[in-house]
Amino acid sequence: MSVTAVVGAQWGDEGKGRIVDYLAQSSKVVIRFQGGDNAGHTIINQYTQHAPDQKVALHHIPSGIFNPETQCIIGTGCVVNAASLLKEMAELAAIGLSTANLWLSERAHLILPYHAMLDGLNENTKQSLGTTKKGIGPAYADKMARRGLRLGDLKHPEWLRSRLQPALDLANRELTYFGHAALEFEPLYQQCLTWGEQLGPKIINTLPLLQAAYQQKQPILLEGQLGVMRDIDWGIYPYVTSSNPTPSYAAAGAGLPVTSISQIVAVVKAYSTAVGAGPLVTELHDEVGQRLRDVGHEYGATTGRPRRCGWIDGVALAYSSWLNGFTDLAVTKLDVLDGFEELKICTGYRLPTGEIITHFPNTIDLAPDMADPNKPSTIEPIYESYEGWTDTKSARSWDELPAAAQRYLKRIEELTQIGTMVTPKLRYISVGAERDQMFELN
Ligand code: GDP
Ligand code: IMO
Ligand code: MG
Repeated sequence: MSVTAVVGAQWGDEGKGRIVDYLAQSSKVVIRFQGGDNAGHTIINQYTQHAPDQKVALHHIPSGIFNPETQCIIGTGCVVNAASLLKEMAELAAIGLSTANLWLSERAHLILPYHAMLDGLNENTKQSLGTTKKGIGPAYADKMARRGLRLGDLKHPEWLRSRLQPALDLANRELTYFGHAALEFEPLYQQCLTWGEQLGPKIINTLPLLQAAYQQKQPILLEGQLGVMRDIDWGIYPYVTSSNPTPSYAAAGAGLPVTSISQIVAVVKAYSTAVGAGPLVTELHDEVGQRLRDVGHEYGATTGRPRRCGWIDGVALAYSSWLNGFTDLAVTKLDVLDGFEELKICTGYRLPTGEIITHFPNTIDLAPDMADPNKPSTIEPIYESYEGWTDTKSARSWDELPAAAQRYLKRIEELTQIGTMVTPKLRYISVGAERDQMFELN
């Protein structure tokens, strides 16, 4: 039996979907343990006759859904927008993919229409964080304030009514504060009952399924959303999401003992990207940044926003490695760096005082001018320079990689090993989005 967590090592969009899809070939259960439909995990459909080779962006549904032998669970730590989930299920059905193996934790929280409205209204204020406007923050806020509704509530009409009324009353106060019309109770209540009917058989206590898999020693995969730099506790707060995308939360969000996780795979993009506001020390506003965006097709899978791009940040990676306890590294999008004459890796930050640091500081020290989150960080990245290479796309083994690419990857590995308790090792290298453009190191 093995439990593997796959998590984003940076600011999200590292290629988690593609790695989970690959690892799900030998997994019996895949669980999303946090987040909601703010996720955009892209997989190229190589499995169904309908729409072959079409890119599919999954938002709620675990990336194991392409393997018909895999049970997919939307875990207790997630927040779920029922309408958007039903739409996603219908889209998969339209390309011939079954969601018969999809299960939803009865304890996962609901994202209700007012959550998304409030998220959008907050984004129109000076406090804008650049969220996906999917209602993630307001839904988790309600969860923590213990007025949230859970998927299981949809199957208990009277209980649902008693929970929804006070929650809506409060949401309406907030909506009207923003000048938005209040929502009526009855239509929303009826909508919830309909969702309960539509999703009912899929809303279950997920523990027996998980325990059975664990006892039968079946491989289990935990799929993270976003990356540690947007973690609610350790990310660039307040420019973060409202959950913990780290393995420390994976066990809780999935319903497994923390000691069960034996492998933690870090998905590391070969350069940096972020979508949304907040400091990004290695961001490039020049033609190099634009080239990374163009070649890497760096546009949000959920919102379509252009992603901010820059060189890989070794300071952030070392921080991420400590917090996550990575055992293995999956480096993606190496091919996007093909053809550069020179590449850079950030290994330190120079503060405005001239002091050089190699630890990742708190947000206020990264961006003293917090009033304008889009202003460049006042921290200057210190770079090491690396020789570029011409082509990695056709490489299918370590030995087939150009020596310069090997050196670049080895340095990334080294940076994730600095001062950590666990020593992560390069394990998977991805040189293209297609399933066969990836190889494993022994
Ligand atoms: P996730 O949110 O971490 O699952 O990542 P996204 O799906 O949002 O973004 C990753 C994008 O890069 C997707 O469009 C993938 O198809 C693509 N991708 C993944 N791995 C590679 C790779 O090695 N090379 C290239 N060129 N594209 C890749
Ligand atoms: P995947 O799983 C990249 C970012 C938003 C914003 C911040 C908070 O595909 O990597 P939220 O809507 O969560 O309240 O927004 O987090 N963000 C993502 N960035 N990839 C994602 O998901 C993201 N999900 C949220 O842009 O900065
Ligand atoms: Mg994504």
